[in-house]
Amino acid sequence: MSFNSKNYYELREAFEKKHLAAAERAEARRTALAGKIDGLSEIDDALSSTAARIMSAAFAGKEGLGDRIAGIRRETEELRAARAALLEAHGYPADYTDVHYDCEKCKDLGFVETKMCECFKRALVLRGYETSGLGALIGKQTFDNYSLDYFAGEDRERMRQNFAKIRSYAENFSKSSDSLLLMGGTGLGKTHLSSALAKVVIDRGFDVLYTSVLNMIAEFEKAKFRGEQDDTDRYFSAELLIVDDLGTELGGSFTESCLYNVIDTRICKGLPTVISTNLTAAQLSERYTGRLFSRLLGVYKPLLFCGRDVRFEKK
Ligand SMILES: Nc1ncnc2c1ncn2[C@@H]1O[C@H](COP(=O)(O)OP(=O)(O)O)[C@@H](O)[C@H]1O
Ligand SMILES: [Mg+2]
Ligand SMILES: [Zn+2]
Repeated sequence: MSFNSKNYYELREAFEKKHLAAAERAEARRTALAGKIDGLSEIDDALSSTAARIMSAAFAGKEGLGDRIAGIRRETEELRAARAALLEAHGYPADYTDVHYDCEKCKDLGFVETKMCECFKRALVLRGYETSGLGALIGKQTFDNYSLDYFAGEDRERMRQNFAKIRSYAENFSKSSDSLLLMGGTGLGKTHLSSALAKVVIDRGFDVLYTSVLNMIAEFEKAKFRGEQDDTDRYFSAELLIVDDLGTELGGSFTESCLYNVIDTRICKGLPTVISTNLTAAQLSERYTGRLFSRLLGVYKPLLFCGRDVRFEKK
């Protein structure tokens, strides 16, 4: 698990705020109640002096110290009980002015000592969905709602294998996973299986970025004109990058060099990438330079999608 580091730091800040806000809300409830319930302020003042009393008891010398402290503790317990009874007599729960956290385990800090709390992990996964680029697709196109019924004969067997490979790829994804090239005509479920794959890998705690090739090139163009590199960093650093619809972008040397840069850098860093395309191997070799083509066909594991466009089969 290594998550997206920007998400991580933003969430740590948000959790710290949440932790403080819970204490502020409790204090606001206490102040409001003090105005309504006679005697509450006196009890609270007495309770808040406990620590100081223990201190001065300690300074008063060792003799009888244990007894003096036990006495203070007993009084404190009595004060707490009286306070609870007072609140309840006015119709409030005894813990009404206590600090309440969404997660009592970590007090909304996200960490228990140095260990990440489950609530923080869940928040990271949700943030991971938001920053994955998949938007509304996430959770809609899943392995569960993928069906082989749309395919017949040999196609079906091939698609069954593709499905099994992609599912197991997702469930076993690691930083040393292969890169995949999903090839085949429109409507054969390449995008569907890519988003299903993305969700499972995000759920397992990895930083995933999904993008169409058009969107990726547009981001590089923006960065070039603005002279910023920031927005495009993630293409080189995400633990899994999924590039959809390779071949739909306008050709040209800028586009080609962006694609080459991303693909080659990720191979050099050993970062897995999943690319899908409607183009055949022959069309890819015609369209891209030898150095790009050779990386795609030489390094990526190809999966051939076949059959009839599912969008027509579904009607
Ligand atoms: N085997 C399948 N089972 C269920 N729905 C499918 C299947 N294959 C494709 N679809 C659906 O058909 C539509 C087109 O699929 P899509 O993944 O976009 O195809 P591609 O990316 O290969 O062009 C999507 O709505 C997708 O959810
Ligand atoms: Mg598609
Ligand atoms: Zn927690």
